[in-house]
Amino acid sequence: MENIILTGDRPTGRLHLGHYVGSLKRRVELQNKNDYKELIILIADAQALTDNSGNPQKVRDNVIEVMLDYLAVGLDPKKVTFCIQSQIRALPELTAYYMNLVTLPRVLRNPTVKSEIKLRGFNNNEESGVPVGFVNYPISQAADITAFKANLIPVGDDQEPMIEQTREVVRSFNRIYNTDVLVECKSVLPENEICSRLPGTDGGAKMSKSIGNCIYLADDEATIKKKVNSMASFPRALEEPGIVEGNVIFTYLRAFANDSHFEKYYPEFKNLDELESAYKKGGLGDGRIKKFLNDVLQEELKPIREKRIEFSKNIPYILEVLKEGSEKANMLADKTLEEVKSAMGINYFVNDEYINEQIEKHSN
Ligand code: TRP
Repeated sequence: MENIILTGDRPTGRLHLGHYVGSLKRRVELQNKNDYKELIILIADAQALTDNSGNPQKVRDNVIEVMLDYLAVGLDPKKVTFCIQSQIRALPELTAYYMNLVTLPRVLRNPTVKSEIKLRGFNNNEESGVPVGFVNYPISQAADITAFKANLIPVGDDQEPMIEQTREVVRSFNRIYNTDVLVECKSVLPENEICSRLPGTDGGAKMSKSIGNCIYLADDEATIKKKVNSMASFPRALEEPGIVEGNVIFTYLRAFANDSHFEKYYPEFKNLDELESAYKKGGLGDGRIKKFLNDVLQEELKPIREKRIEFSKNIPYILEVLKEGSEKANMLADKTLEEVKSAMGINYFVNDEYINEQIEKHSN
């Protein structure tokens, strides 16, 4: 089977290093492998509005910010279909039909939805309770995925419950309507723990905009340096042994540093293994290691930042890419919607099937 790869992001902020190692790098690799029929990236503005109903301008602005990040890391509109969720007409309609196939207890059991409800402080009263659209977002995500008949979904592990629910929707639908119109999908998860959970600069939780521990792809040189210097480290006397385990500076080096970085910026060591064992023996200060990390990150982020600035000078081009991608996405999704409606028998006017069936029933 030819792969149809679909992934997406909520446009609620600029993308950061966590997104970069967790998904953007992988997407560029997938793009360049060329082992797919379609590679679609969906900017999920409608999903972003499920918990940002009071802040629509944020979502509106971040459609462009996220798109600039995509292009800056090297995703190529010649290979990728970029589209905006709210502009794909079939998605809310598919969502409406799928909502009947999922029970309320089932959506409320979704572990990601559960923890997000807690995180956002939604409660049980009518004023600040959880929006209906929010608990429904896994179902709308099933619509996103099935509309394009996507079989591979590259996502972080927090999205696994959405993929599971999508498979359930697909199975229920195909069973009830005795069809194979909808395609089962599977997730493609990040390769390792560091990639799926890059910690923030505070060394604690995962890098996240709401915690404010991010290095953004758009950050300038001075900002990156400041953030690296402010990274949490374990205080100790210089000659004491250093701790690598759980040390955020080393976690970042694991994620970003390669041997050629050592050759260029830290020739006393050949690679990270050597640096780590020297650090564990003691006598190596954090200042020097941070300087190295800063060199590594600056090298990685400079070309991305520069490309981002170039693209930001041509906003009409960005819009054109999104418009063309959304038009193509509409063609694909409309076709699936038609198949879905005919599987459901709600295609009354498409051909003579319904009229003949009903004439027959009323003929005696
Ligand atoms: N829920 C995803 C996130 O928060 C974004 C998303 C929306 C998505 N629709 C999708 C991801 C379809 C993969 C496939 O990151």
